[in-house]
Amino acid sequence: MANIPLYLAPLAGYSDQAFRRLCKDWKVDYLVSEMVSADGLIRDQDKTLAYVTFAEEERPYSVQIFGSDPLILAKAAAALLPFKPDFIDINMGCPVRKVVKRGAGSALMKDPLRAAAIVKEVKNAIQGAAILSVKFRSGWDLNSLNYLDFGLKMQDAGADLLCLHPRTTSQVFSGLSNWEHIQKLKQAISIPLIGNGDVDSPETAAKMLKDTACDAIMIGRGALGRPWLFAQIKQFLKDGYYQPITKDQILKTSLTHLDYALLYKEEFVVVREMRSQLCHYAKGMPGSKELREKINHSSSVNELREHLRQWLSH
Ligand SMILES: Cc1cc2nc3c(=O)[nH]c(=O)nc-3n(C[C@H](O)[C@H](O)[C@H](O)COP(=O)(O)O)c2cc1C
Repeated sequence: MANIPLYLAPLAGYSDQAFRRLCKDWKVDYLVSEMVSADGLIRDQDKTLAYVTFAEEERPYSVQIFGSDPLILAKAAAALLPFKPDFIDINMGCPVRKVVKRGAGSALMKDPLRAAAIVKEVKNAIQGAAILSVKFRSGWDLNSLNYLDFGLKMQDAGADLLCLHPRTTSQVFSGLSNWEHIQKLKQAISIPLIGNGDVDSPETAAKMLKDTACDAIMIGRGALGRPWLFAQIKQFLKDGYYQPITKDQILKTSLTHLDYALLYKEEFVVVREMRSQLCHYAKGMPGSKELREKINHSSSVNELREHLRQWLSH
């Protein structure tokens, strides 16, 4: 089967530099930043800078911005150019109330004219210096599934690449994503389409590819605590089988995750932020509840390391 490009999804609170680097170790092809406010980028660059800082080794990478004002998004995109991102992605799929209330994220699916104006202005601002992509959902709710028309409008406005997470805004994450929407959109547009939603194993990746003929696959939750998923998918698509992960590899990877986190953040921040990341490594495995308790009460990275070692030595 094809050597399909794999993307790590933008995951606010998770897809920071440490996690991205770890996924790169495990053969992900493309990395996307956590979403960054266009307003914030312009007004308070110092605060938002950490979100848009990438290492050269992370290339090719994408910075995702969100906002509702075409001119502000265009300014933000221009402000990103000195960082030379390979892609700039516009978030038109975020269902979070705080974002939607301001007319950003998936609220833009209710206002396709504004969404198209954003794409036009950003395209104009970046002058071909980065690939412009748009990430969106199937529609606001089941009565307004406008992904086909919306996708075509984004293409006409100048988007180079689209990414569809086929759930509605009102679904948030409930139910299953509807891959038929990916397949239909792929047939309707002439630019490449990234399929996203519920890929959590090599088998589901192969199925998405077969069912939708998408050009690339983006994985979010399935990679949390399982960055090796990218390598397993690559192997499965190439050879028809994949190496199961061993306990030793899980331990090594989770410890490396901690080491990487310390490269970018102070220890007290790492201890706080890594709690949820590390719990994902244990999810569904024996002893995960006890480990979660211990992790949540740890106050140093050494303690975290010790708990991981003890958990995986049983
Ligand atoms: C914790 C979390 C944070 C997310 N943050 C973002 C974000 O910053 N930008 C975005 O476009 N989507 C965000 N998403 C949505 C994912 O990128 C992705 O579209 C969604 O999780 C479906 O893919 P999956 O089933 O592979 O997780 C987030 C999802 C989760 C669970």
